[in-house]
Amino acid sequence: MATVDDARRVLGGLKDAGSGRELLELGWIEQLRLEQNRAVFRLTLPKFAVSQRDRIASEARSALLTLEGIDDVQIELAQPGEGAPIGAAGHGQVQPQQPVPGVKQVIAVSSGKGGVGKSTVAVNLACALAASGLRVGLLDADIYGPNAPTMLGVVEQTPEVQGSGDEQRLTPISTSGLVMVSMGLLIGPDQPVIWRGPMLNGIIRQFLYQVEWGERDVLVVDLPPGTGDAQLSLAQAVPMAGVVIVTTPQQVAMQDARRGLAMFQQMGVPIFGVVENMSWFTPPDQPERQYPIFGSGGGQRLADEVGVPLLAQIPIELPVQEGGDSGRPVTLSQPDSLAAAAFRDLARTLQTAHRL
Ligand SMILES: Nc1ncnc2c1ncn2[C@@H]1O[C@H](COP(=O)(O)OP(=O)(O)OP(=O)(O)O)[C@@H](O)[C@H]1O
Ligand SMILES: [Mg+2]
Repeated sequence: MATVDDARRVLGGLKDAGSGRELLELGWIEQLRLEQNRAVFRLTLPKFAVSQRDRIASEARSALLTLEGIDDVQIELAQPGEGAPIGAAGHGQVQPQQPVPGVKQVIAVSSGKGGVGKSTVAVNLACALAASGLRVGLLDADIYGPNAPTMLGVVEQTPEVQGSGDEQRLTPISTSGLVMVSMGLLIGPDQPVIWRGPMLNGIIRQFLYQVEWGERDVLVVDLPPGTGDAQLSLAQAVPMAGVVIVTTPQQVAMQDARRGLAMFQQMGVPIFGVVENMSWFTPPDQPERQYPIFGSGGGQRLADEVGVPLLAQIPIELPVQEGGDSGRPVTLSQPDSLAAAAFRDLARTLQTAHRL
């Protein structure tokens, strides 16, 4: 059975690329310990060395796995220049960021406030991207209030599980030209054990890494409202191309949106821009009229404040809500509607600006 001294010995070969000095000697690797079959340490990198993080994590992992009786390595990351751990969903331990195999870009749809239309935007954006020829996945990260299955009409479906134990893999559901996964598909009585993970962080990771996403140009993530664990877990787990912030035009939704934005900015996730939803109501029989029921200009003000583009303004339309409830998103069910056109424009704007 390996000892901590053995662990120190195998980590002795790890060096700072700049100075050539040993990481143990520099104090970047600390609190090294062995917990049964698992080796654990804390990685504290100074700001200038953060770019070495992935290399160091991978070399340390490989080195520690050569030890007898060790088959798991846990790395606690500390903020650059600080002693405190970043903390995964408040649990104080995170693994390095890891791309999803086969997935080119991950984009998230978020908002500070609930009910502003995140899921509607995420689902319709995903459908519009798929309709334009991209291979699209949709990850419903709203674990406690999943809406994507209803919006895509797949509530009755259960994804297949292959393999067993840690090797279990979930096949996403194919619908509306894309593939999707949601907790809403798994909370039936037959739910496989693997998906009963108690921690949200664990579930988000499983949705990222234990789903057979296949080759995807883009994975759209629908987040729950707010700035909670799901946002944190996602941003810590996977490198993201960017996030779209949804708001309604009024002041209060904007304030919440600002908070949501600040969180992603702090975590270094690019903000693609703002989508203003429920911008105005146009009566079906008066297509030239626009009634700004929830005020006007909020989306543009927020975008200007943060220095990001206003990506789209989505009108309030009955077909949007009907599309959500009927399981056939407005982009597909009523492609001639104003909202469908706005979602297509949004998809095109993102494709052009960010090479999706
Ligand atoms: N532009 C729109 N026109 C008409 N109805 C809309 C529009 N956008 C959203 N809705 C409706 O508003 C409701 C809330 O939308 P949605 O579920 O997308 O919001 P959300 O931000 O994801 O909510 P939550 O915070 O609960 O996740 C839904 O019934 C949806 O159909
Ligand atoms: Mg939602």
